[in-house]
Amino acid sequence: MIEMYHVYMAYQRDANALEDINLKIEKGSFVLLTGPSGAGKSTLLKLITCQEKATKGQILVGGRNIVRIRHSSIPYLRRNTGIVFQDFKLLNKRTIIDNVSLPLEIIGKSRKEIKHKAWNVLKMVGLQHKIASYPLQLSGGEQQRVAIARALVNDPAILLADEPTGNLDKENSEYIMELLRRANTKGTTIMLATHDKNLIENYHYRVVGLEKGKIISNG
Ligand SMILES: Nc1ncnc2c1ncn2[C@@H]1O[C@H](COP(=O)(O)OP(=O)(O)OP(=O)(O)O)[C@@H](O)[C@H]1O
Ligand SMILES: [Mg+2]
Repeated sequence: MIEMYHVYMAYQRDANALEDINLKIEKGSFVLLTGPSGAGKSTLLKLITCQEKATKGQILVGGRNIVRIRHSSIPYLRRNTGIVFQDFKLLNKRTIIDNVSLPLEIIGKSRKEIKHKAWNVLKMVGLQHKIASYPLQLSGGEQQRVAIARALVNDPAILLADEPTGNLDKENSEYIMELLRRANTKGTTIMLATHDKNLIENYHYRVVGLEKGKIISNG
């Protein structure tokens, strides 16, 4: 599903944020990407969505090389990829249901379908009673669930989640992990970046370890 060959990424010259990354993520797998702050976890996820560009190497997503992808093709790539950002990135002036509807509006789904899908996914994350609220009226854990609902509303082939349990207590973290597990069971390939040791120990998913931009473990 995702393949990387000798991938390098540098924000500044002579300072690689990622160095010689070789990685294969099978379709339908659930992979934890770990490592200390600054190791390059977010950068690696951003390469997959073309939010950042590799300086060298090959990246295949669904068999397609995205390193030299045309700018106009990026929206098509993102249609199949749900993203949960480290800082949620919810639109505070839109209601919860309107936030979740956004990916479907962008691809021009009908009003009826948008409403149906947005409602269903919000029910799935247990927020059907909050659809008319605004993000800032929700707790951190609830906002995170909205971000996950928005990422999943379009049944993406790939879900990239950057520290989705970052600031949450144990109960909320477990709830988020359960939502992701269910999405994975339904076929979504998941890559989750985290430095939460508990998460790594409690769930028996494949762990890819990064340190200073290099893969130091992969099992
Ligand atoms: N926009 C940027 N401009 C310049 N350097 C950056 C930028 N974003 C990240 N970096 C640098 O790239 C390296 C990797 O950062 P990255 O955000 O990928 O780490 P991370 O593993 O996600 O860390 P964290 O656990 O804190 O989220 C760091 O040295 C960081 O300072
Ligand atoms: Mg990060």
